[in-house]
Amino acid sequence: MKNQMKKIVCVALAAAMTLSMTACGSKPKEADPAPSQEASGTEEETGTEAPAPAADGETYTISIAHNQTPDTGYGVGVAKLKELLAEKEPRIQLEVFDNGVLGNERDVFEGNQLGTVDVAITSIGVVSNFAPLPGVMNLPFMFKDFESVEAAIESDAMKAAWDQIETDAGLIALGVYSQGFRHVVSNKSAITSLDDMKGLKVRVPESDLYISTFNALGASPTPIAWGEMYTSMQTGVVDAFENTPVNVIQYNLNEVSKYETATNHIWDGAIITINPDVWAGLPEDVQKNFLECIKESAVYQRADINTAAEACIQTVKDSGVEYAEVSDEFHNQLVEAVSVVYDDFYAKYPEAKTLAEALQ
Ligand code: PAF
Repeated sequence: MKNQMKKIVCVALAAAMTLSMTACGSKPKEADPAPSQEASGTEEETGTEAPAPAADGETYTISIAHNQTPDTGYGVGVAKLKELLAEKEPRIQLEVFDNGVLGNERDVFEGNQLGTVDVAITSIGVVSNFAPLPGVMNLPFMFKDFESVEAAIESDAMKAAWDQIETDAGLIALGVYSQGFRHVVSNKSAITSLDDMKGLKVRVPESDLYISTFNALGASPTPIAWGEMYTSMQTGVVDAFENTPVNVIQYNLNEVSKYETATNHIWDGAIITINPDVWAGLPEDVQKNFLECIKESAVYQRADINTAAEACIQTVKDSGVEYAEVSDEFHNQLVEAVSVVYDDFYAKYPEAKTLAEALQ
């Protein structure tokens, strides 16, 4: 019944939206170690006229890996990137490894450092374990809406954080995709007071900031690989998890969940990083075009996720999950409870305080 409802909702949404909605009815693909062809489009298919190849006929094949589906979330950005490259820089051929076929986010990020993956798309939560400053964007209740996130990403202040990815993690940051604001999804109850958080066994990403946020809220944060999320909820390994409306639907987690509460506690995004040797191997004009296409795809992807989030909230409600907003009073209690996360983060990384204040 739930599945049938989901299908009906998604067919209706597909009429109103394009790329982002196609994932609402699809399970993540089975692992397929071959690069995804779904996002690619020939000149005939895309209707774009590609510039003539370089006189020397040189092309550059670049592998790009992420853990989301081809037509949702990061997949929307990568599909757009392929389209833009076909039009503006056809010397770059992307080889896409999506759906986590190359491992979880940390594996892929480390592969990017080692050079086994040319370009990785990795949650800020994971990246901040290697370079702490981008983690400022993951501080709980740091942003009130998508506009403030957008302003922060484009700000001069954040440049120091993106640069730290090169100094501390050895990778060059090229752009930022979005996941959106995160909710708490539970099988115990809706989260309407701090009491509902007490002792709640909640899956969080492998990230210090997420762990300290849920500790501060009185919950029992449990890092578990995202790929195990569906069975962890189904079998009661955890009571709850926290994630974005799009990821809840993208991974069919509404099928194994009873309550979703719009806590909007953390905004998370993903950094697109390139291995420095791969970057150095591209001629300057190719680098410039690649960077421009990445940035354009990122602006597109971030706008798309906002629309997709609204649609996925509707899908979750229609599928029978009890959906709750957070009252102003409860929101204020949550904000107060997490102030210790800021204190601890600033004590550990003093330069994060100046940066966070510049963004607020
Ligand atoms: O919750 C996480 O671990 C990350 O946000 C996710 C869902 C793996 C990003 O794709």
